[in-house]
Amino acid sequence: MCGIVAYVGPKQAYPILINGLKRLEYRGYDSAGVALLEEELLVYKTKGKVSDLEEHVQNANLGGTIGIAHTRWATHGEPNQVNAHPHFSQSKEIALIHNGIIENYALLKQELQTRGYVFQSSTDTEVLTNLIEDIKLNEGVSLFEAVRIALNQVTGAYAIVVMDKNDPNTLIAARKGSPLVIGIGQNDYFVASDATPIIEYTKNVVYLDDEEVALIRRDKDLKIKTIRNQEKTPYIQKLEMNLTALEKGGYEHFMLKEIYEQPTSIMDSMRGRIHLEQGTVTLGGIIEYEQKLLNANRIIIVACGTSWHAGLVGEYLFEDIARIPVEVEYASEFRYRNPVIYERDVVIAISQSGETADTLAAIELAKSKGATILGICNVVGSSIARATHAGTYTHAGPEIGVASTKAFTAQVTVLTLMALRLAQLRGTIGRSRFMQLITELSLIPEKVEQTLKVSKKVIEIAEKFKDVRNFLYLGRGYNFPVALEGALKLKEISYIHAEGYPAAEMKHGPIALIDEEMPVVVIATNKGTYDKVVSNIQEVKARKGQVIAIVTEGDKEVKHLADYVIEIPETEEMFVPLLATVPLQKLAYHIAVMRNCNVDQPRNLAKSVTVE
Ligand code: AGP
Repeated sequence: MCGIVAYVGPKQAYPILINGLKRLEYRGYDSAGVALLEEELLVYKTKGKVSDLEEHVQNANLGGTIGIAHTRWATHGEPNQVNAHPHFSQSKEIALIHNGIIENYALLKQELQTRGYVFQSSTDTEVLTNLIEDIKLNEGVSLFEAVRIALNQVTGAYAIVVMDKNDPNTLIAARKGSPLVIGIGQNDYFVASDATPIIEYTKNVVYLDDEEVALIRRDKDLKIKTIRNQEKTPYIQKLEMNLTALEKGGYEHFMLKEIYEQPTSIMDSMRGRIHLEQGTVTLGGIIEYEQKLLNANRIIIVACGTSWHAGLVGEYLFEDIARIPVEVEYASEFRYRNPVIYERDVVIAISQSGETADTLAAIELAKSKGATILGICNVVGSSIARATHAGTYTHAGPEIGVASTKAFTAQVTVLTLMALRLAQLRGTIGRSRFMQLITELSLIPEKVEQTLKVSKKVIEIAEKFKDVRNFLYLGRGYNFPVALEGALKLKEISYIHAEGYPAAEMKHGPIALIDEEMPVVVIATNKGTYDKVVSNIQEVKARKGQVIAIVTEGDKEVKHLADYVIEIPETEEMFVPLLATVPLQKLAYHIAVMRNCNVDQPRNLAKSVTVE
């Protein structure tokens, strides 16, 4: 979603801002803009990519040591130059960038119109810009005060940075619901939607909390107040991210790099958590909440998209080995459907970005009902990580490709560790079985490494099916979420319609779609309901469907039935998702590349969905 970068300090702002926007491109956007202040407050913006903006400003005056920049993911008003940010106020003295949605913008706009304001764009952001200007002029207050007062009048979500033509030393930043980080350099300040544009300049950051407004002045200390005028002491944290994690490192796309990082990211998610000698699993971040987990009536998992698929694997794991009831909810449904939540429920929120608006809202709802909330997040210091009572980071490292890959396997790894720990505490599995499982789990990174070698076969399959219009993905038990995830990956980046189904459900409808044109990906590994899945494959073959099967190394039966077979190493049934997902990620990747799709930034998608 929208990306924000701002700078004030001794250096020229433009190169820092453009560089920052490029770092934020992964979030997904459709237009870009920048405002710079030297003698004049100048705004440049354009529809399209950051490279289009660079072209657009080729001959422009780009001087100034203070500025704000933005990538916009359209909500109100189509993606065009007028609707792109920054937005000027009516007098052109104030410029503002915004991520989020001002829900009561229509009412505010009407009021401002009656006071003579004329709007250029269809955005909610321009309304906020003029509201700030109106308050500043009518109440004779500073820009900081005007922003603070204005934010008391808006409902919705925002991360904003504002600058004033008459004050070349000051930026005002504020947030509610949308993320904002302030980087504190030697003698300069950076503001961004996440730490990626900041990391190359400083590791010292302050994460703004909801309803906080920051006064950021050249050569002066950072000041923070709440919108209700309460002073806050800035809490400076150290970033742990490193710059190389944000580069492609020789790969053609971030997605491919991230697929190949999985042996390491899974290992990093397990590091220091499995103790084979002592025969135990520890998760430091939630240790103080283990009693709550033990006393829980049930676990509710809330998440969206790929993280929801990881949650589904979590449900199978918790119920299978820790024998505790689990419900997996789409955060967007959960938050609005008046769910029954008890104080003894433990809610686990899963999110790569830690910024997903629906997941955050689901957390707030569950919190208000007294439930204990644990988080599984990838981005350290993110809003969800901070909104939960406790949590466990996945340690997958920055995920830049919009299609989530390594974050998924890291989430499943952490859920596996949680389920194992809970099973140990509840005594639902015996010691020797527990040992067997943690020993096998610690071998998974090596097995993922082995699984990554299937490229030749995957490319052959991609070549054959790259032009079809539909795909069906089938799996049962632990492999059902894998089918969903495989289908999601394909549709996200190749724009081929794909459906994931529990294999046995096929005969209740989707079987009608099967003919010789229809590729059906079946995850048919050798455990659990293998025989039943073999029957499902026969049903597909009887209708001339083309079967691509993911099987366990050495499989004989499916090999005779399927048109294409991809082998993965033998493992425990519950760990199969960690392996079987990998060739499906690669299949989606290669098909998308062959179709000339923008793999890392697929159309219409945003990496971090900060609006509902
Ligand atoms: C995955 O490939 C997606 N782009 C998307 O479904 C994503 O998983 C979803 O938006 C949730 O994001 P989160 O994990 O950052 O909360």
